[in-house]
Amino acid sequence: MSGQNLSAKIAGTGMAVPAKVWDNFKLATMVETSDEWITQRVGIKERRIAEDNEYTSDFSTKAALQALERANMTADQLDLILVATSTPDMVLPNTACFVQKNIGAVNAAALDICSACSGFIYGSAIAWGMIKSGIMKNILLIGVELNSRILNWKDRGTCILFGDGAGAAVWTACDASEGGMLGVVMGADGNYADLLTLPNSGCRKYPEYDGTYITMHGNETFKQAVRTMNECALEVLEKVGLKPEDVDLLIPHQANIRIIEAVQKRLNLPPEKVFVNIQKYGNTTAGTIPIALHEALDQGLVKKGDILLMDAFGAGLTWGAFVMKWA
Ligand code: COA
Repeated sequence: MSGQNLSAKIAGTGMAVPAKVWDNFKLATMVETSDEWITQRVGIKERRIAEDNEYTSDFSTKAALQALERANMTADQLDLILVATSTPDMVLPNTACFVQKNIGAVNAAALDICSACSGFIYGSAIAWGMIKSGIMKNILLIGVELNSRILNWKDRGTCILFGDGAGAAVWTACDASEGGMLGVVMGADGNYADLLTLPNSGCRKYPEYDGTYITMHGNETFKQAVRTMNECALEVLEKVGLKPEDVDLLIPHQANIRIIEAVQKRLNLPPEKVFVNIQKYGNTTAGTIPIALHEALDQGLVKKGDILLMDAFGAGLTWGAFVMKWA
């Protein structure tokens, strides 16, 4: 396999979420909100919350081990570990290094990707590029977030939206005739950086914020989410020469059920072709797509030859989508 014939497929997936569940009724005891409001406006019923002594690398490690097992691969076969997260255990060293140690991936390099909710798309593009170029063969990609650590639990406009969790996928080389990744688009617009931020999380200090928590302009973020997700879904399909009706399953970023429904309508897809699990986990940022993919596989919703479309947007703004033929 070389050159044009070389592509990458996902050989195995895994997921790990905290055991603790906080439903909407629990949140209604903390801020002025209700189960009815959250269900109708966002589509979330409950989310997972990590204990104080559980860390991003813990969930990443569990998800990684399951993905390796399902890929029928050992950790020493990995060439690279990518961890897409905005809530690393610490900034230095990166979380990918902790995972590398925990799973014993002695031959792997380690890199974190900080692209918020688009992290799994960006990471998949990097994995595909490294594999397609022949530089690497097996790459573990984890999308993970411990949002509970960076939420203002007094702000009902944000704290009801997010949850904790990790999803993992092992990308491996395959012959393009088998299928695998067909194409990807990615984009960003820093002019919208103010829409969703985590001030005081880096070396620049913002005294106007009395801590480190997510700030968001919900309405404008909503509009940009629908616009970017619609645009990049259509763009990537055109790029690979497919039409929306060719898609067997859309796995969108799970931020708000109304955003997902808007994309579904734009692509004119029936509901059964759109995977939704936001009701159980909320928005786990870079974790939503790999967790959803893992659950879709477990539910028998994906078969060999199916065309899958992954589509995401996030802080930055960043966005991206890819199409793969399941192999
Ligand atoms: N419970 C009850 N009421 C709430 C509430 C909550 N949790 N949050 C906001 N409200 C209220 C507002 O105060 C406002 O009240 P008012 O009319 O008296 O002023 C009303 O509900 C409508 O607020 P608005 O912000 O216009 O609601 P919305 O329909 O835009 O929904 C979001 C708010 C945050 C759910 C929605 O904008 C959203 O999902 N945005 C995208 C967020 C996102 O995806 N972020 C992640 C990016 S990866």
